[in-house]
Amino acid sequence: MYNALLDEYVGHSDFFNYGYWEETTKNQQEASENLVRQLLAFLPELSGSILDVACGKGASTRYLLRHYPPEAITAINISERQLETARRNAPGCSFHRMNATNLAFPDRSFDTVLCVEAAFHFDTRERFFQEAWRVLKPGGMLVLSDILMHLDAERRRAFRTEKNHVRDLEEYRQVMQRSGFRDVQVIDATVRCWHGHYWSVVRFFHQRFLAGELDYPGLQRCLDRTYKVVPDLDYYILAAGRRG
Ligand SMILES: C[S@@+](CC[C@H](N)C(=O)[O-])C[C@H]1O[C@@H](n2cnc3c(N)ncnc32)[C@H](O)[C@@H]1O
Repeated sequence: MYNALLDEYVGHSDFFNYGYWEETTKNQQEASENLVRQLLAFLPELSGSILDVACGKGASTRYLLRHYPPEAITAINISERQLETARRNAPGCSFHRMNATNLAFPDRSFDTVLCVEAAFHFDTRERFFQEAWRVLKPGGMLVLSDILMHLDAERRRAFRTEKNHVRDLEEYRQVMQRSGFRDVQVIDATVRCWHGHYWSVVRFFHQRFLAGELDYPGLQRCLDRTYKVVPDLDYYILAAGRRG
């Protein structure tokens, strides 16, 4: 997550997600902001307290400051290095090093739990759903974007577990419901999120190569990282559920 070329690609915004690409979206930073906006659009109103799970370098947390006062925003991440950056990006918010599957907050602490493009890392996302349900107040909502990987990828990739495999949107809905969520919505955003990002980042790498800023082996390395996702990613989804 600390790479000079990728920093340039995201416009030094510190976002680290595929984003949500509309016809008018100009760049990755805008797409990443769109993605958080799309997730917040699941909420009937932007009020109360919010927990940003797996906040990365705090760009999503900084976006939340557009709508929430800092004292209403708490964010967690597994990496202390990323949290140091996040604290600078969103001053006044509370940051904690914590595992999403073992949240050190009392029951019924938050009105909203947000998780942008991270639950596919967790061991497991179902355990995270149970924790999110526990820390939500009754009526509170979990809103998230997530990636459903092909079973082969879950078996092959580092930091993945087969236990985390979810086949499709219907199964995702069932896992959320099994964890206690009601009014579950799961939306296929593969084209808006993954396809949009794919073409944007491939174009960026080629532009850097043609400008002489990236040599040919460098271009190949960058493209390889992107191409490797193609057979592994089945769906990119947006989802929401309410604690009854
Ligand atoms: C793709 S990044 C998304 C970061 C951020 N949400 C954003 O949109 O810019 C995934 C993040 O999940 C975090 N992460 C991975 N496993 C975690 C866990 N078990 N608990 C908390 N955070 C975790 C990583 O450190 C990383 O910051």
